[in-house]
Amino acid sequence: MKLSVIGCGYLGAVHAASMAELGHEVVGIDVDADKIALLSAGKAPFFEPGLPEVLTSALASGRLRFSTELADAAGSEVHFVAVGTPQTRGSYAADLTYVDAAVDGLVPFLAEGDLVVGKSTVPVGTAERLAAKLAGTGASLAWNPEFLREGFAVKDTISPDRLVYGVPDGAAGERAKAQLDGVYAKALAEDTPLVVADYATAELVKVSANAFLATKISFINAMAEIAEVSGADVTKLADALGHDVRIGRRFLNAGVGFGGGCLPKDIRAFTARAEELGRGESVAFLKEVDAINLRRRDRVVDLVVDALGGQVHGRRVAVLGIAFKPNSDDVRDSPALDVAVRLHGLGASVASHDPEAMPNARRLHPQLGFAASADDALRGAEVAVLVTEWNEYRELTPEHAKELMAGTTIVDGRNVLDRDAWRAAGFHHVGLGRG
Ligand code: UGA
Repeated sequence: MKLSVIGCGYLGAVHAASMAELGHEVVGIDVDADKIALLSAGKAPFFEPGLPEVLTSALASGRLRFSTELADAAGSEVHFVAVGTPQTRGSYAADLTYVDAAVDGLVPFLAEGDLVVGKSTVPVGTAERLAAKLAGTGASLAWNPEFLREGFAVKDTISPDRLVYGVPDGAAGERAKAQLDGVYAKALAEDTPLVVADYATAELVKVSANAFLATKISFINAMAEIAEVSGADVTKLADALGHDVRIGRRFLNAGVGFGGGCLPKDIRAFTARAEELGRGESVAFLKEVDAINLRRRDRVVDLVVDALGGQVHGRRVAVLGIAFKPNSDDVRDSPALDVAVRLHGLGASVASHDPEAMPNARRLHPQLGFAASADDALRGAEVAVLVTEWNEYRELTPEHAKELMAGTTIVDGRNVLDRDAWRAAGFHHVGLGRG
């Protein structure tokens, strides 16, 4: 099928390349000329394992091209809208400027029978409003939320764990479903679960999924706070809870908390939208989820300050990790970067390291100290703090750290190091929620 993808950020670039890899003829469109030039050259504008390979092979097949012109969407049958919906400055609401601009911009290029498919994460009620913009074009609208995780984005797009279509009633809905079935023929042939619903349900699936994940993380982090004052060990607690299949062990890792371009802004936009709908109380707990999450950052900073006896100024601290999670160079709302910036603000001599995220962090916070390697960050540090659990940090041994560091305190902000081994080697190992 002929597809256009409007917006070539994280979501759109991966979607465009993956759809071409599946055999569709795809044009990816973005207003950012630099991004389009990179993508056209087969280079991913961000770090995502597997994406450069899929880009290169899709471009070589001739099925994938990129453009800065919305007019190039003309002739495609299905148009995916994959632009960003960031948090509005000074408010919790999602900024829908880019979604509206994409749909408005598409209208002149739509033909009878075309399908516009929203993939961006939007407040419930947006699709119905956007559908009205298509009146008179002969095109219709569907909402098809995306559940990809950074670091696994290509796999999650090609083999999703479920597909959700929000479609209108009647014949238009039947046609939209048939078109989306054509797009996702491979995944459907592999028995990927499919839920066909109305617009509002499809929109809500996405935000409630992220709200649930955020709540699960903050739940275990709240237990970590209780563990800290009661002497319990939150990692063992999570293991024991996780054996109950109704609860499950995944997303029960206590630590410095969640960040990234999705979970934080999505729970905030959800509370803002619920308030607009007169049901603020229904999701008021998400404010607590947010607050618990942000307190974990304070806790990590406090642990470092305590380890330095309250005298931070000029003291060298190694901060291992900057990205909001491993296998990503994304620093949006990153707890790790936040910890580094705050320690710097307190006067510490911060040596930050991340295998991929340093260029992004340097652009935002040129004042921070960056180390060329984890060893360089650790060299001479009085305290080390692990805040993004990249494999190279998980594999760090206390013996090696001891050779490099001036001090012997490690704050494990992701609870991934073997506490016994570090303690046995003479380190003061401080975990989160571990008594
Ligand atoms: C999240 C969702 O997991 C995806 O399903 C969704 O499609 C995506 O948002 C989106 O809306 O686009 P992502 O932001 O890539 O994906 O990251 P996650 O893997 O969900 O991790 C989010 C944060 O939670 C990270 O900072 C991670 O370190 C933290 N986390 C995760 C924990 O602190 N503890 C855990 O147990 C799990």
